[in-house]
Amino acid sequence: MNHRKYQKHVFVCTNKRNPESGRQDCASCGGDELRLQLVKLVNKHGLKGKIRINKSGCLDTCEMGPALVIYPSEYWYLNVQNDQIETIFEQSIIRDKVVDEWIATSQEFDEIKRNRLK
Ligand code: FES
Repeated sequence: MNHRKYQKHVFVCTNKRNPESGRQDCASCGGDELRLQLVKLVNKHGLKGKIRINKSGCLDTCEMGPALVIYPSEYWYLNVQNDQIETIFEQSIIRDKVVDEWIATSQEFDEIKRNRLK
């Protein structure tokens, strides 16, 4: 039995912090724009209702934002730039393939943790 609502569910961090916090957030480094680009691509390809692009709160990779994650495969991309989004859409969202050069690695997640402990 298929229990899924969407073929792909994408969360794009658009978290916004109080500027006084001194911490980076994805709203300030392009998260909103990335989400809009993805929504447009979904609509352009007639995939509304099959692929869902959601705003997300903090995904806990703020230092390497903007961040997005694609489920169910859990493909994470960090520090995503506007000119990467079409490739990520075509490869990881449509074809369910990793973009090797850009996929986030466990080393990057570890580095974020290490830097926070300093
Ligand atoms: S603010 Fe985007 S990952 Fe934390």
